[in-house]
Amino acid sequence: MKILVTGGAGFIGGNFCHFMVSKYPNYKIIALDALTYAGNLETLEPVMLKENFKFIKGDITDRRFIFELFELEKFDIVVNFAAESHVDRSIENPEIFIKTNILGTQVLMDASLNTNVNRFHQVSTDEVYGDLPLDDPALLFTENTPISTSSPYSASKASADLLVQAYFKTFKLPMSISRCSNNYGPYHFPEKLIPLMIKNALTNQTLPIYGKGDNVRDWLHVYDHCTAIDLIIHKGKVGEIYNIGGQNERTNLEVVNIILKELNKPQSLIKFVSDRKGHDLRYAIDASKIKSELGWKPIYDFDIGIKHTVKWYLENQKWVNNIISGEYIRFMEKHYS
Ligand code: NAD
Ligand code: TYD
Repeated sequence: MKILVTGGAGFIGGNFCHFMVSKYPNYKIIALDALTYAGNLETLEPVMLKENFKFIKGDITDRRFIFELFELEKFDIVVNFAAESHVDRSIENPEIFIKTNILGTQVLMDASLNTNVNRFHQVSTDEVYGDLPLDDPALLFTENTPISTSSPYSASKASADLLVQAYFKTFKLPMSISRCSNNYGPYHFPEKLIPLMIKNALTNQTLPIYGKGDNVRDWLHVYDHCTAIDLIIHKGKVGEIYNIGGQNERTNLEVVNIILKELNKPQSLIKFVSDRKGHDLRYAIDASKIKSELGWKPIYDFDIGIKHTVKWYLENQKWVNNIISGEYIRFMEKHYS
């Protein structure tokens, strides 16, 4: 079995490569990544020399390159993680989100059809459903919640989902889609909430919280996301969408306070800053379909998972320091100024 993991040098794609390489010694796991600012080969160091793993640098929007690669490798399964993934960047510059997240997905699907790939799995997000109110905790996103996007990022992911569904109906592409809630864990790029707050707290920099910090996210440890995708690509039904989420809802302020407590740092580091434009209030996932149909069960409770994650960052500060490039610094200075 040969599996292509696009975006394999990113946060979730990298964790997925670690998971699959160790779980399936007889498979060949091939990571493809353009190594944008968010892609980092150091994330793949634990698997780089394994016999059942290979890394290829390349861009999913490069049609000729992708077609040649698919002809050469004859993948059985494609798991598409490659994307521009940061909402704040999509607000500042939507264009690359449209190119990578929509056109890149189309190129991969065309190449999959051309070489009869057995399963094309699109890694999507709960953000395609828009947001939920803060005052009705019983409301959750199901797979039937209508798409209603807020940011250029979520709009580009929703557009890709629609294209994937169209390729299923029109061209019989054997596809599946998963829509997961916010992930956290090792190798998370420090522009997203949790790793940014850990990094800033460790270096006694201010912790910028948008608005009042009462927005709610449903946190899932990245390991549990990997086990869910593993199940879907092996046992999930073709043509189906599966929600993935951990029932770990926390306000942003709660998350930041947990991190400060873990690191024994003062709350005075918190700074409330201008709210994000179009800021989604609450995400919360109903994952009963994947649980009942495929028997998926997350193993991490947030309070344990966040402790592990803070510990990982403490022990891997070299990884963080190495990825803070000139581009990273420029974005952070412009965005938070
Ligand atoms: P990430 O930004 O850490 O990684 C994305 C990877 O894609 C990077 O390594 C980058 O170099 C690569 N990439 C970007 N453009 C490319 C291109 N044109 N060709 C090849 N590679 C390219 O993102 P992540 O957090 O790991 O997210 C992975 C996927 O999961 C995304 O599709 C995202 O929408 C989805 N997702 C993320 C979350 C989350 O909480 N992070 C939740 C649900 C879904
Ligand atoms: P983020 O990690 O960007 O994920 P997403 O927007 O995809 O949910 O943000 C998570 C939450 O944290 C979101 O409500 C925005 C908020 N946030 C801050 O308050 N400050 C920050 O500096 C960042 C990056 C995010």
